[in-house]
Amino acid sequence: MFVCLCNGVTSHTVADVVAAGATTTNEIARVCGAGADCGRCRRTVQAILRSSSPDRKTSRR
Ligand code: FES
Repeated sequence: MFVCLCNGVTSHTVADVVAAGATTTNEIARVCGAGADCGRCRRTVQAILRSSSPDRKTSRR
């Protein structure tokens, strides 16, 4: 699913960026462009960050 229409970034790409170590929406924007333009997708990017964060997965155990 496309998350960022400005830059054509999918939720899969955002999750990959988080898995590679991004911990903030600014880092995600810098790496893949999601949220770097109009910013409308930032809330969705934040939700993906929360659900994909390795820290969160660890804290569930
Ligand atoms: S939709 Fe992502 S920056 Fe515009």
